[in-house]
Amino acid sequence: MKKYSRSDENVAMKLHYDVLRDDFSRAGEASSKIKNMLRQLAIDANILRRIAIATYEAEINLVIHSYGGSIDVYIKSDCIEIYVEDSGPGIENVELAMTKGFSTATNIAREMGFGAGMGLPNMEKVSDEFIIESERDKGTNIKMVVNY
Ligand SMILES: Nc1ncnc2c1ncn2[C@@H]1O[C@H](COP(=O)(O)OP(=O)(O)O)[C@@H](O)[C@H]1O
Ligand SMILES: [Mg+2]
Repeated sequence: MKKYSRSDENVAMKLHYDVLRDDFSRAGEASSKIKNMLRQLAIDANILRRIAIATYEAEINLVIHSYGGSIDVYIKSDCIEIYVEDSGPGIENVELAMTKGFSTATNIAREMGFGAGMGLPNMEKVSDEFIIESERDKGTNIKMVVNY
């Protein structure tokens, strides 16, 4: 597995958040903390908006689709890297999952307003670099890069 590796080169700051499965009451908390932290660093509003979208959608997916996972944000001198990794269940067909409107969200998740099937397409759209890899039973790994 692992189509990408993490590089510590030029990292000014690292943020790490664990996200639990089905934790609807805290869904959005990690991405909100990331946004507030970056705002304090006076990061450009448009860059901030893109990172907020990418981390929010990633966090919701961890809550409603995964067994739980983590979000790591590497703040570098020329870009921000976001790593989203979970321990399962993995995505059967990544190409299909990337399709606008495709969703396997449960009725419970839909009742909470999730499951529009736009998370992955929007994560890719706001990223300068987007890598996703997933394996059934092993989990899903995503790397997103937003350049300054
Ligand atoms: N971390 C994940 N683990 C397992 N499946 C996932 C994960 N992220 C996304 N998926 C699958 O990809 C589909 C599309 O994701 P997304 O575009 O975010 O739409 P939505 O979350 O609204 O269903 C999901 O419905 C789900 O089947
Ligand atoms: Mg989603």
